[in-house]
Amino acid sequence: MSSSNMKTITVIGSGLIGRSWAMVFISGGYSVRIYDNQSGQAANAITEIKKQLGELEEAHMLRGELTATQQLALLSSYDDLAQALEGAFFVQECVFEKLEVKQSVFQDIERLVGKDVILSSSTSCLVPSDVFSKVQNRSRCIVSHPVNPPYYVKLVELVPHPETAGPVMDSTHTLMTKVGQAPVCLKKEIDGFALNRVQAAIIAESWRLVQDGIISVKDIDLVMSEGLGMRYAFIGPMETMHLNAPEGLEDYMQRYGVGIQRVLNSFGPVPDFFGKEAKGIINEMSELIPSDQQHLTERKERRDRLLMSLAKLKKDN
Ligand SMILES: NC(=O)c1ccc[n+]([C@@H]2O[C@H](COP(=O)([O-])OP(=O)(O)OC[C@H]3O[C@@H](n4cnc5c(N)ncnc54)[C@H](O)[C@@H]3O)[C@@H](O)[C@H]2O)c1
Ligand SMILES: *[C@@H]1O[C@H](CO)[C@@H](O)[C@H](O)[C@H]1NC(C)=O
Ligand SMILES: *[C@@H]1O[C@H](CO)[C@@H](O)[C@H](O)[C@H]1NC(C)=O
Repeated sequence: MSSSNMKTITVIGSGLIGRSWAMVFISGGYSVRIYDNQSGQAANAITEIKKQLGELEEAHMLRGELTATQQLALLSSYDDLAQALEGAFFVQECVFEKLEVKQSVFQDIERLVGKDVILSSSTSCLVPSDVFSKVQNRSRCIVSHPVNPPYYVKLVELVPHPETAGPVMDSTHTLMTKVGQAPVCLKKEIDGFALNRVQAAIIAESWRLVQDGIISVKDIDLVMSEGLGMRYAFIGPMETMHLNAPEGLEDYMQRYGVGIQRVLNSFGPVPDFFGKEAKGIINEMSELIPSDQQHLTERKERRDRLLMSLAKLKKDN
């Protein structure tokens, strides 16, 4: 089992995220071996990816330097874990979001790979110290949390286990950059990582404003889509502040810091997302976009079309 050439990556689990990772890695010229424990599933994934690569090439949205045919040739599928892991220097796990499942998958993987192989998990909600608790050598373990769909939304949160070795973090960062993703490093693990914690803060205040009768569901969404979100697709909250005062961030805080603290002190408690009052918000949303498959699919397709254009806009600027 050689892991010396650094050109082969194994993807474990070939659902939505496993397929996306496979597409991202082959776009960067890596060979990808896909494994799924449901027999035939990894092979189905390749059929599905083939179709998507063709569509992307047609739309001039294919990532990387290689043609769709060249990228497809880098893919192979396995129903046997040991075979799937042969020659890999990096393993990206994408199985069900269940702690016991991930723990046992990593135990199995560790037995089959060389000591320098990096073990990476796609988990969105579990912390590394739980996911990797059954691995012997945890210094080689890391969470690489993607955002759906990773092909257009490039952020990857790299979250270390308390024992993760510095070079493992660095190599993962280098790999993600090479394949065109946008990796960020958390210095320590924390529940929700960075993205979901910021998202939770936005959800909480939006929910409270609607629940308290301050604004409608429709209008709070416009506050983001026509206001904050316009900038946030290109610059984050820190740069936004830095650019919004004549002399930068310190000046911004001199002018607005106390006001922001006053507003923060008026924030309410964690909202109730389940009770009778929540029902009102849910109904208001469903009146705007009915929750049946047809309406939801229409809006999802619109979202993905716009994401694709936005990704193109960002790439060209
Ligand atoms: N869907 C998202 O938006 C999203 C975003 C970021 C991260 N993630 C994370 O990615 C992971 C995968 O999510 P998904 O949406 O692709 O799920 P999914 O249900 O679409 O796919 C999971 C795949 O794993 C396979 N699998 C299950 N147990 C296995 C095992 N023991 N060995 C091998 N294969 C196994 C299943 O057959 C299935 O094909 C989860 O940890 C999830 O939290 C998901
Ligand atoms: C695949 O693994 C999951 C989680 O470990 C398990 O629930 C499922 O039954 C397995 N499927 C097969 C076909 O073995
Ligand atoms: C543990 O993993 C690190 C990082 O991959 C590796 O350098 C080291 O040799 C491993 N140690 C053992 C005992 O296998």
